[in-house]
Amino acid sequence: MSEIEERLAELERLGLYRRLRLVSGPQGPRVLLDGKPVLLLCSNNYLGLADHPRVREAAADAAMRWGVGAGASRLVSGTMTIHRRLEERLAAWKGSEACLLFGSGYLANIGTIGALAGRGDTVFSDELNHASIVDGCRLSRAEVIVYRHLDSEHLEWSLRRHGGGDGRQLIVTDSVFSMDGDVAPLVEIVDLAKEHGARVMVDEAHAIGALGPSGRGAVAEAGLEGEVDVVVGTLGKALGSYGAYVCADEEIISYLVNTARPLIFSTALGPPAVAGALAALELLQERPHRVERLRSAARTLRKALATEGFPVEDGEMQIVPLLVGDEHAAMRLCKEALERGVFAQAIRPPTVPAGTSRLRLATMASHTAEELKMAACALGEAVRALGLDPATMGPSVSANRTHVGDEHKTEEPYLPMTAGERRGDAPFDLERESSIARAA
Ligand SMILES: Cc1ncc(COP(=O)(O)O)c(C=O)c1O
Repeated sequence: MSEIEERLAELERLGLYRRLRLVSGPQGPRVLLDGKPVLLLCSNNYLGLADHPRVREAAADAAMRWGVGAGASRLVSGTMTIHRRLEERLAAWKGSEACLLFGSGYLANIGTIGALAGRGDTVFSDELNHASIVDGCRLSRAEVIVYRHLDSEHLEWSLRRHGGGDGRQLIVTDSVFSMDGDVAPLVEIVDLAKEHGARVMVDEAHAIGALGPSGRGAVAEAGLEGEVDVVVGTLGKALGSYGAYVCADEEIISYLVNTARPLIFSTALGPPAVAGALAALELLQERPHRVERLRSAARTLRKALATEGFPVEDGEMQIVPLLVGDEHAAMRLCKEALERGVFAQAIRPPTVPAGTSRLRLATMASHTAEELKMAACALGEAVRALGLDPATMGPSVSANRTHVGDEHKTEEPYLPMTAGERRGDAPFDLERESSIARAA
């Protein structure tokens, strides 16, 4: 057995082996999966724009007018008029001074974190941030302080311990967390950043099209437009295309143009992807009721799942995790659901922490209420067929938390603040904290 065969066999044994499934046709509510018709309940095509006729036409027209490829990096010959147009529209929509397109959300995150933080700097990162943020932190070579998920007290504690207040600190967080659908405490994060002189970067990949006025995202929903230093968004999810953007002030954007390696050393987005995103953005602005349809789909699915006995709360977030725990069991549940006509991919480590494998359900504005009710019913049956209890499959994050990846984990013992410390009227006892850290 070769070393690679052995590693693959090990992945299989651990329930972590992955294979690519084949989807025929566009990312609509129903697809052929490996030749079998199923309801698609795990796509990020949240607003149903990836397969919208106007978006398809725009991409096809752009291919005829500008060609398919951008030919080079943005800094060589790759910045085309259509790139500039989308950047201007996105900046205006997000109320930002400037905007810069990247090849994908992954590239935008590693490029931006790597540009804004380096050796000697400190990045404060939520422990459940997306892998592209984790990798950006690793590549940056900055010191990375991982704070507990959504825990602004732990963030404050970490800033006090590690922040120098010299503007060389970066706080980075997903706004809507991709695997749990929960939302970062942005107002508190921005307040803390101001207090400690840190920059804030927010990844809105799953919030665009879902939260905020006309789907402008969680930053807008929290009333923080203009207050977050760097906002990243993707074009490949609600905006139905491919690519990503960074919104910030002119200074940061020209700094990224000069230093973000994935922008400098990678070919620019192809014109059809850019034109598709432009058309999707226009559609979203013209008809924001799509966002309401997505929210209503989420409400319907959540209610139907609760009727089946899943401990799913009412709400409007389109991402609904059904926590299984064990990796093999999550795969078996995915298979049972597929046999009942529902495709909800099993999500396992390293995408989620060990022991929190799950089906991650995602609704789309294009799902009908009947489809979603049928899906909840099929999932209930699938769970019971495996002898599992839907009531145990509740929200994952606070309950069963372990850490994702060896290099992105909270390491320091941490003592929650007293009310006095929170108000800031009692100095934090660094001496005491460090002796606790040493003793642990
Ligand atoms: C929070 C978050 N950020 C960034 C990305 C990466 O974006 P892209 O798929 O455009 O590379 C994803 C998902 O893919 C994500 O969930």
